[in-house]
Amino acid sequence: MRTYLVTGGAGFIGSNYIHYMLRKYGDSIRIINVDALTYAGNLENLKDIENRSNYTFVKADICDQKAITKIFAENDIDRVVHFAAESHVDRSIKNPEVFVQTNVLGTAVMLNCAKAAWELPDGGFQEGKKFLHVSTDEVYGSLPEDDHAFFYETTPYDPHSPYSASKAGSDMLVKSYMDTYRFPANITNCSNNYGPYQFPEKLIPLIINNALQGRKLPVYGDGKNVRDWLYVEDHAKAIDMVQEQGRLFETYNIGGHNEKQNIEIIHIILETLQEMLPEGDPRREHVNEGLITYVEDRKGHDRRYAIAPDKIKAEIGWEPDTMFKEGIRKTIQWFFEHEDWMKNVTSGDYQKYYNEMYKE
Ligand code: NAD
Ligand code: DAU
Repeated sequence: MRTYLVTGGAGFIGSNYIHYMLRKYGDSIRIINVDALTYAGNLENLKDIENRSNYTFVKADICDQKAITKIFAENDIDRVVHFAAESHVDRSIKNPEVFVQTNVLGTAVMLNCAKAAWELPDGGFQEGKKFLHVSTDEVYGSLPEDDHAFFYETTPYDPHSPYSASKAGSDMLVKSYMDTYRFPANITNCSNNYGPYQFPEKLIPLIINNALQGRKLPVYGDGKNVRDWLYVEDHAKAIDMVQEQGRLFETYNIGGHNEKQNIEIIHIILETLQEMLPEGDPRREHVNEGLITYVEDRKGHDRRYAIAPDKIKAEIGWEPDTMFKEGIRKTIQWFFEHEDWMKNVTSGDYQKYYNEMYKE
């Protein structure tokens, strides 16, 4: 039975990936989820699978070499899928250090531990072992406002925020292990994800949550920054396909050609909420464009991201299954059905963060 070590599995993409993998492979794989449960990690995301015999949760920090070494010593790990990271750009602008700590040093620990566990006396590696480093398109920097410019795997790195700089640093470390030791790894650089379990500090769940509550919808700058949105399950599928069908040592960009200005996203969410809220629901009164509020721009705000997914499509045959219109409806439906989840994650520390960030 193949054993996966998933880091950051209690976060947004990690928990969706674990659900996807258990749906796809059933009891034929084993998953060990290692997560430090920071503000972004939430075991409620995994409640429905917590008692499965082929799923184990270990609370540990990826920077803790002793704890990670122990997991490798006690388990014959075949695959590492490394999601754990500090992931929010705005937080990185306020507090960069923890991003360097987790994203750079934590990745170094993961690489060291996997290398030590998998290395053979002749310097090669045990057959079939693979490490996948989950990264972002933000490492490529910002594109001009020109519909024909895209990020390719060959685009030079040009990160601007402390978050993207720390992810670029982690990517470089993985590349160095592949180049120096022929360490069996892949890197994936994906565009913006959305879907169930996303923490409401990020644009889409923040707008859904605020609109439903009749709170202001904060738009940074002129609202015309472009992001390339992908339904999270399509990202999970891509990661699995890269790990099983991709060429080792290669980088694959993941994105579905779904570029939209932030203000367009907000209008789509408002329209979809209006369509989906039942007749007579009092929230229909306040869910409208009057909530849109332009606020101070994000420092160093990248203008446009757009992934060219040509390589993953040509080599592996990956394409997204969920188009934006359907994905946003599924996401809103999920939030309708999980009001308690939203209440729980927006209480306490998050409320403090929100008040400081948006000066409310
Ligand atoms: P998230 O913030 O929702 O989750 C991160 C998870 O990592 C949390 O469960 C947190 O508890 C855990 N974690 C943080 N520090 C840790 C540490 N020191 N040790 C162990 N666990 C720790 O993030 P996400 O949006 O799910 O992103 C996951 C990965 O995907 C990140 O590497 C991110 O850079 C990358 N990525 C995200 C997006 C996106 O749109 N969200 C797009 C492309 C790539
Ligand atoms: O591109 C991939 C990246 O996407 C991931 O690597 C990051 O982990 C993930 O957080 C995301 O980064 P962004 O900065 O693009 O996502 P965010 O949801 O924070 O913002 C999306 C856009 O919306 C961005 O242009 C900033 C803008 N924005 C965001 C917030 C939170 C607003 O206008 N208002 C807001 O309140």
